[in-house]
Amino acid sequence: MCGIIGYCGVGPAFPYLFEGLKKLEYRGYDSAGVEVGGRVIKRAGSVDGLKNAETAGLAGRCGIGHTRWATHGAPSAVNAHPESSGPVHLVHNGMLENYAVLRAELPGRYPFVSDTDTESAAHCIRAGIDGGESLLAATWRAADRLKGSFAFLVTSDLEPETICGIRRNSPLVVGTGERGVFLASDIAAIAEHCEEIFSLDNEESVLVRPDGPRFFGPDRREIRKASIRFDKNYEKVGFEGYSCFMEKEIHEVGEGFLQTCLGLKNQMKGMPAELFRPKRLLFCGCGTAYHACRLGKKLMERLVRIPCEAVLASEADEEDLPVDGETLCVFVSQSGETADTISALRVCKKLGGRTLAVTNVVQSSLEDLADFTLKTHAGREFAVASTKAYVAQSGFFYLLAEKLAGGLPVSMDLEALKAGMEACVDLSEIRALAGEMKGESYAFFLGRGLDHLTAMEASLKCKEITYIHSEAYAAGELKHGTLALIEPGSRVILFVTQRKWQEKMMNTLSEVRARGARTVLLSPFSDLEDCGADRFIRLPAFPDLYMPLISIVPCQSLAFRLSRERGIDCDKPRNLAKSVTVE
Ligand code: F6R
Repeated sequence: MCGIIGYCGVGPAFPYLFEGLKKLEYRGYDSAGVEVGGRVIKRAGSVDGLKNAETAGLAGRCGIGHTRWATHGAPSAVNAHPESSGPVHLVHNGMLENYAVLRAELPGRYPFVSDTDTESAAHCIRAGIDGGESLLAATWRAADRLKGSFAFLVTSDLEPETICGIRRNSPLVVGTGERGVFLASDIAAIAEHCEEIFSLDNEESVLVRPDGPRFFGPDRREIRKASIRFDKNYEKVGFEGYSCFMEKEIHEVGEGFLQTCLGLKNQMKGMPAELFRPKRLLFCGCGTAYHACRLGKKLMERLVRIPCEAVLASEADEEDLPVDGETLCVFVSQSGETADTISALRVCKKLGGRTLAVTNVVQSSLEDLADFTLKTHAGREFAVASTKAYVAQSGFFYLLAEKLAGGLPVSMDLEALKAGMEACVDLSEIRALAGEMKGESYAFFLGRGLDHLTAMEASLKCKEITYIHSEAYAAGELKHGTLALIEPGSRVILFVTQRKWQEKMMNTLSEVRARGARTVLLSPFSDLEDCGADRFIRLPAFPDLYMPLISIVPCQSLAFRLSRERGIDCDKPRNLAKSVTVE
């Protein structure tokens, strides 16, 4: 995973590297480092740790930087990048699969000092340079020996003011502007300084000097690349009066949903009609995006009746997938850069499926690979926990159901739903509940039918930013085993938004209350207010079909409030990153 940045130009490099790394922290933030003019400075912890007296003295005009999400080796200064070998310094986004083999093969004169997979690449490049090769030739030779995914930026003390970049299955962009040449994992890190941006394709490489970049194709011949479209101001996003990105993004849920649905209606009109006449459907994503896919599958089962599977991208196995030329395969991703989802898309393409990417950020690898793309317009998320993108992705599935079924049983009032979401963003009962739950160590989220899917997403939000262990269950399943875990004081949160399941949910409520659970019931049904739950949280009422769009919002807000109460930085919870670019 990780974010990489490079700069070569007329100004001091460090400020550009630091600023770019801050924008790349969504890719990982457990350690960081830079190399400028041959000096390497690395720290455990977030990018902010790089702003110190040592880096203040870095005057060079060319350098590389890295913010890490540890895959091999603990998040320590020694395992932080740049990795160096003699004159070579290298930053890496991706994961090398044959690093252990290379470790064993590389001669003893290149001692390994870190536990990372990346260090073997630094030694391979150094071996070429020791053999008389240029930085570029040595990088190419090393790339040929490597298996796995990588975007590398490499410098050598022997070739000052030069950066070599190369990529395989990890993104790398190059930008040019008045102040010089910029390289990064993501346009976001460099856009505001650039007039033109070029996106490297797989196996392409670039040699950057202050006078500009030279691009090379997979066959190592020099090529001309066309620049891509981008918005210079796209990433100038701050907290805008909120305390953090997550709070801001929860407040944007309603608007993101509305803009997404309006935008998608238009986008869908422009797509080939036969795309929406599939024999089979397959929905695929990771984490929250997968939960949106599960909701999608439920909607298809109920409203469309075309066979549909929801598949975890990391479990997408060529041998098992029910995909052929008549299958519409939908890949859902906020970032469009999730490695598991990209890899699943490749598998489905190989099997002949028609691939549709549903992504939220402006430009991404997933949309480059897919046959078709639809954009959600939630606005880019920066907080690690996905909120507004989930609701926007859910909106997509309602519209897909409408398109495939030729209508919905009750029409979707977009403005009213937006208002309903907004009414749930900051409920006083949720604040009170967060205060009450702050010292607790586990919670159960229960629901039936559509509510079970909301419970799954609510439970994930709780885990990732509060560190409170939680589980989601189809409420009826509880008595088949999990009920054994309920004891006096257990926290149980129940969703009752589906009239048809109301009585059975009341049975579940009685069963957990009988065992001493502290219960919270979220429902739009006023007649349940006195049902015996310790807390009743009244939701705005909408047709049952649309309640998943509403009932998740207070849960996002609960997770945010709870993380606050527990002193956790909800924008950057431990061990996680916003964009998971390794499989
Ligand atoms: C959870 C969360 C993750 C992402 C998952 C997929 O709050 O954000 O579970 O949903 O990593 O990310 P994207 O949507 O970028 O593919």
